[in-house]
Amino acid sequence: MLKGLVRLAVVSSFSSDDKVFPIHKIEYMGKVADAVAWYPFGFHANPGPDALSIFFAIGGNSESRIFFPGSPEDRIDDLLPTPLAENEVLLYHPPTKSYIHFKEDGTIDINSQKDVNITGADNVTVTADNVTITAATLLKLISTLIECDDGGTALSLFTDAFVSKYNAHIHPGGGAPNPPSVSAVIGTDTTTVLKAE
Ligand SMILES: [Fe+2]
Repeated sequence: MLKGLVRLAVVSSFSSDDKVFPIHKIEYMGKVADAVAWYPFGFHANPGPDALSIFFAIGGNSESRIFFPGSPEDRIDDLLPTPLAENEVLLYHPPTKSYIHFKEDGTIDINSQKDVNITGADNVTVTADNVTITAATLLKLISTLIECDDGGTALSLFTDAFVSKYNAHIHPGGGAPNPPSVSAVIGTDTTTVLKAE
């Protein structure tokens, strides 16, 4: 009975209309037919051709087809942390092998073959005992206000404009050299590693 209801199929074309019902063309038993892709709650994808799938005929009606696309051939790859250890979970992108890996000890690894973009509508908070950011070329912070503090005291940075002002400042009352005889020099009196502009 189940023989006609459940079959292996492959996706033959991806869904170009990924709206209410993601309908793909699938191939099974030498036939090509439309079928709706089905995913667990909160999961979604748009699998490309050749994704090996399981297709079900709902209520025994072979015209009422849904299918669960899989990627069994793609999961073992040098770019993926596979084979997995016991109890590990992996979410991955079959074509590029970008992934999120829930490891045996609870560590979560995020590894992208391209960019990683995180967007918060309000706040993004990172909290840990130690935070290390390593940028091979450039670490760029962009904001109208950048505040560094030690948990209570806000720390300020000298800007180029402040150094210029210092070097040109005069004392209307006289006494001190006008302008100062000793200039402030970027890189000598300031760091060039962390620099405000
Ligand atoms: Fe002065």
